[in-house]
Amino acid sequence: MFPYKTSFVLKKNTNQSLYLQLANQFIFYISEGKLSNGTKLLGTRTLSDLLGVHRKTVVTCYEELEEQGWVISVPKKGTFVKDDLPILNQQEFIGLNKEKNNNISSDYTFYKDSLLPEKEPLKSEDWIRINDGVSDTRLAPTVEIGRIYRRISSRKNIFKDISYGSTYGNERLREVLVEYLNSSRGLKITKDNLLITRGSQMGIWLSAQLLLKKEDIIVVGMTNYSSADITFKQTQATLKRVAVDSEGIVVSEIEEICKSSVIKAVYITSHHHHPTTVTLSAERRLHLLNLARKYRFAIVEDDYDYDFNYNHAPILPLASHDDRKNVIYIGSVCKTVAPVFRIGYLIASEAFVKEASKHRGYVDRQGDAILELTFAEFIKSGDLDRHIRKILKIYKERRDLFCSLLKSQLSKYLEFNVPKGGMAIWVKLNSEYTWEEVKAEGLNHNFSLGEWERYDMANKRHNAIRMGFASYTNEEIYQLIEKLGGIFSNLERSKK
Ligand SMILES: Cc1ncc(COP(=O)(O)O)c(C=O)c1O
Repeated sequence: MFPYKTSFVLKKNTNQSLYLQLANQFIFYISEGKLSNGTKLLGTRTLSDLLGVHRKTVVTCYEELEEQGWVISVPKKGTFVKDDLPILNQQEFIGLNKEKNNNISSDYTFYKDSLLPEKEPLKSEDWIRINDGVSDTRLAPTVEIGRIYRRISSRKNIFKDISYGSTYGNERLREVLVEYLNSSRGLKITKDNLLITRGSQMGIWLSAQLLLKKEDIIVVGMTNYSSADITFKQTQATLKRVAVDSEGIVVSEIEEICKSSVIKAVYITSHHHHPTTVTLSAERRLHLLNLARKYRFAIVEDDYDYDFNYNHAPILPLASHDDRKNVIYIGSVCKTVAPVFRIGYLIASEAFVKEASKHRGYVDRQGDAILELTFAEFIKSGDLDRHIRKILKIYKERRDLFCSLLKSQLSKYLEFNVPKGGMAIWVKLNSEYTWEEVKAEGLNHNFSLGEWERYDMANKRHNAIRMGFASYTNEEIYQLIEKLGGIFSNLERSKK
């Protein structure tokens, strides 16, 4: 006889009704063969007495089991487990202990990615972590954005915007962005040239999907933004690398490649090359545009940190000089406002944007239309520009402090140029030290270098990494440099 009294655990203080708890537990026992096919279940009165619940609870439970096809009730005879149910082949009886189930690996196989790096687990709050150049999220205008979001959500006619929509993104935001980007970046686009994405990474991925197949060639910098490299590699394209010097990617090397091979695209971070932070010179910009026309390749221009310039006005993107629509221009508000607001754009010829918008549907039916409307308002009202002006002042001060402390206290160990823009410094160690050693010693000082290896995707051992400065307050910058000083002193002592 099935041990009814000890087998069921019914809890009063949960959201699930008692009859459903009981039914779900019956289903466990039936599917695992503990209540085998054809078994007659205890009568409703007896079971309710046994479990101390109302009889109606058991009656409703049996009705539910019948509705779901686990039991049949035979008039005047009782309720029976159906006699055609296969038994689940479990390795062991797991019963109601769901936690025990969590570590079991599944029986099927799946493809694991060998390109994407494992993310380091986040360290606790008292650790200092070097980052790639991210904004200070403590300065993000979340209150203003929240206020606009709430106002838009309460509009009477909001129902029109929250159904399934277009894969191009919200119409209103597209209109506002067209106006904003045409005036701020010198573009000459219409709405048909613009697709809203969930950040720059989606723009890079969509471009890769549309431009590259196995063995197609894409040219990237010798050091390059690692996520872009990985995204291109995932298409099985071939990455050809060209040098990057103080004027940016060396375009004459691209021309040499074009003379002997067909290339599909060139990926650039022209404003501030990632990772080295240098700006592509005017001469090289024009040269590259001419090459794109002559050799018929696409330029994927990732303008991830357009807004951050401390010495001069923002430099117009290549896309602004491009009448041929050979440039696919990508940007987002994720650096300017905060990474959590997944609003970006891809700008290209109408035909490319149309195809990209179809392709986006493979992974994402649409964006968050309320957030998109919120940003339409945030941009149109001038709030975004006001926010940029505010943080630019703060980040400039942080850049200056970070660089002056690096120089005055650590120049014995490293060298760097003060970046004209962006949110990071490209720091090169002198040859006596490696970042690997710094990372290992850092662990003794609650200091994490993050995934520094990603700055050397071509394995050139250039001994340099990016150090973000924008996300730390002045006080945190002092602490960071002091810690770094302690780490280097220890390393220096250990080498003597
Ligand atoms: C060069 C570059 N491109 C693109 C991105 C991705 O940005 P988003 O958050 O807009 O996807 C980043 C983010 O770090 C970046 O550094």
